[in-house]
Order: sequence, then structure tokens, then C-alpha cells
Amino acid sequence: SYLGIDLGTSGLRALLVDDEGRPLGAAERHYAVANPASGWSEQDPADWIAAFRGAVADLRAAHPQFAGLRGIGVAGHMHGATVLDAADRVLRPCILWNDTRSHVQAAALDADPRFRDLTGNIVFPGFTAPKLAWMAAHEPDLFARAARVLLPAAYLNLWLTGEHVGDLSDASGTAWLDTGARDWSDELLAATTMTRTQMPRLVEGSEAAGHLRADLAAEWGLDHPVTVAGGAGDNAAAACGIGAMAEGAGFVSLGTSGVLLAARDGYAPAPDTALHSFCHAVPGRWYQMGVMLAATDCLNWLGRITGTSPAALTADLGPLRAPGPVRFLPYLSGERTPHNDPAIRGSFTGLASATGRDDLARAVLEGVAFGLADSLAALQATGAHPTRLMAIGGGARSRTWLQIIATALDVTLTLPEAGEFGAALGAARLGMVAAGGGSVDQVMTAPDITDEIAPDPALRGAFDAALQGFRTAYPAIRAVQ
Ligand code: XUL
Repeated sequence: SYLGIDLGTSGLRALLVDDEGRPLGAAERHYAVANPASGWSEQDPADWIAAFRGAVADLRAAHPQFAGLRGIGVAGHMHGATVLDAADRVLRPCILWNDTRSHVQAAALDADPRFRDLTGNIVFPGFTAPKLAWMAAHEPDLFARAARVLLPAAYLNLWLTGEHVGDLSDASGTAWLDTGARDWSDELLAATTMTRTQMPRLVEGSEAAGHLRADLAAEWGLDHPVTVAGGAGDNAAAACGIGAMAEGAGFVSLGTSGVLLAARDGYAPAPDTALHSFCHAVPGRWYQMGVMLAATDCLNWLGRITGTSPAALTADLGPLRAPGPVRFLPYLSGERTPHNDPAIRGSFTGLASATGRDDLARAVLEGVAFGLADSLAALQATGAHPTRLMAIGGGARSRTWLQIIATALDVTLTLPEAGEFGAALGAARLGMVAAGGGSVDQVMTAPDITDEIAPDPALRGAFDAALQGFRTAYPAIRAVQ
């Protein structure tokens, strides 16, 4: 059997699959995000380990196949700075992907043209390098003791194997990687007064990173070698989970953040569009994605302030219709793609005395869809032309939302059969390939499609017109904030 871990923002999911990669069972543990100041978002890595141990205990109790475990893969939320001293002790809570405290440092690094040239990406405030620059400025004593900086998934690799080793897909989100060369850039590290010795050794996500430590293997009742894969950032792992490995394949993910991802055969960076161009978790492949910082978060917010559950907000919206006069800008936490604007906030426009809660709910769904349309336009400008995208993430449970997105993007959305197809499955698949259980092509397959949602041609014109209004609203709202 193989074990896939999805170290998420709100909890850890552990998935056990059999020797053919078919899911046997999953276990979850949840933990908190601390927001000690506005724009700060932190987690204690000890909580991840406790969650990992608990989830493994559940899986061991429920599935005798755990005793035959051969490989483990870890996928993690990206960009987090887990900073260790020379004895591998955590120096401070991990600074997470959605923490924007380092926006000043990010802008300064981004102004150095070497960062966009070598990484193929804007230095966003959520990325890792500006977080270390922030520590150098605000926590100089801790920065001086920083012997190693690991991404969350690499920290779990350290716990599992005793070695500092991370994968290229996750390393792509640090702003220290030469993304085309698939190696750390000594020049970019030096620009933040750091060196390669503070970084983990890099492997491909589907390569072996090491073996499970003997003491952990004994704790888990395993008396044979278990391979630990390089692992992946969560978006690359999700792509592995749905078999989005080559040109033309991709997904729309409606989670806390909204992601529109396309697998690419080559490396075609376009930093000016605020697209992310990252290494895939398998050799010789890359992917590009647009990232919205608030997707389901927008609907959750409207639910909170109207005292309605997000599901109830979307339940009675009726059939797809042309967008009305209310527009919503979904920038509750600032935005990455396409604006790279950590300071922008959301807005409603076009409110009338007749506007009701359903109008607001529809405008929120449309606003997130238009944000994704902006990401798709950026992707198309780099030569990617996906016509079908798989819909994943919690928000994909709303049929109304999927209809709106399909028509706003003019793309057919496909729905996978019920079951496992997310980052945990992708991580298990990386563990399987790394342990010799099959090749990338054999293992990273697409799930069966049970449903398709096509754009509504009769409403395309109305959605395009509303998208133009949405795009015009951003600079106007920007000017008054
Ligand atoms: C990607 C990003 C998020 C996190 C969420 O760049 O920041 O999608 O990976 O876990």
C-alpha cells in the first residue's frame, strides 16, 4: 500500500491506497491558523506532526493493509516559511502562504529584475523569500540563527526521513528557484543574504527523497524499508491526482483560494500577467496557474454577514441567467492574479433599493467566476488553450456556480466520479512512483468523468459584457481605496 498526505491550511488528510493506487480509506485531523496581527497568518509545525500521527493511528486501526506500506508522499500548502536552527528546532511559527506582512520586502525584491528573470514569477508577498527578508528586518536574532528554511511539506519529509529534502514543484513558490533550470539560484539566495546550505536538497516530486526513519517505522509496526517521495506543493499534487500532466489538461479549484491550473509541456513564463509558472511534480514538466486569494471565502463571508449558510445562499438561485446590474469584486484579501495587489479590497457596485440577498449571492458567484476568467485570459496569452477543465474543491458542489463559471470562461467543466481525486491522492501517487510501484504515465491517470457542464451559448454575450464591466470596475475602485 501507499500513503498520501495532504497538509492543508485547515487540516491534514491522510489517504491510504492499495498496490494498484485505489483508495482504501482516509483519516483527517484539523488544526488552527493563528492571526496574531492584521495580515499575519501562522501555524505551529508541531500541530502538523500531531495531526499526522493521529491520522496514521486511525488508518492503522482501520486498514490491515497499512502493514504492507511501501511508499509515502507528502503534499503541502505552498510558500510557508518553516525556519529551523542548527539542531532542526523550529525557531518561530510557520509564516503561511496567505500571510501578507512581507509586502514591502516582496515589492523590493520584485524590483530587482533578476527575480522575475530567473524564477519566471512575480515575487508575491505570500512567497517564501520576502518572509525571510521580513525576518531579517524584524527578527534579526532569529534570522541569524536560521540554519535551514523548509516549506511545510519538506518539514514533514524531515520528520519522516531525518533528511533536509524538498521537491521542485514546492520550491518553485519560494522565489529562490531558477524555475527553468530546476535548481536553487545562488544569486537569488544571495540577494536575501542567504546561501544554498540553508536550503533542502532538491529532488523531483516523484523521486525518492529518502526512507522512513527506523524509529517511526517501528512505531507504526513496519519492519521493511518504506520510500518517502519528494512530494509536492498542493496544486501540483492535485494535478497529479486528476492526471493533469500534459498540455491541454487542467483544473479549476474552488477552495479557500481559487486556482485555475493548466499543465504545460514546456516552460513559458509570463510574470507580467501575475500568472504562476512552476515546475510540475514530475521531471521535465511545468504548469501555470492563476491564483485568487479568496474564492469560497467570498461566499463564506456573505453567509456570515447575512446569517445564512453558504449552501443555502446558492440553493435557490434558479436557472442560469444573464448577470444583473450588481457587480462584486472578490478581492477580500487582496489579489494575486491578475493584479498583484495585496492592498485592494472587495466591493459591490450597482446596488438598488430592490437588491436582495439572492442578487448579492449571484454577484459573488459571478465575481469569483470573472476573477477566474482573468486568470484564463492570462493563460491564453501564453499560448495555453484549455477547452475542458476539471472542477474540484468544496465550491464545486454548487451546480449554479459551475454553470456560471463555465459560461464566464467559455470552457466545459468536467466533474470526476465521486471519490478521491485531490492532493492526497496525488501525493500517494508520488509515493507509489518513487517506491517503484509504476511509471508516471501508468500511475497519474485521469478519473472517469460523470458529468459535464458546457457554457450556455445564449448567455455568452451577456457574460462577456458583464466581464468587461468587472474589469473596468477594478481601477475605479482602486482609485477610491
Ligand atoms: C498557491 C497558493 C495556495 C496554497 C493553498 O500559490 O498559495 O493555493 O498552496 O494551500
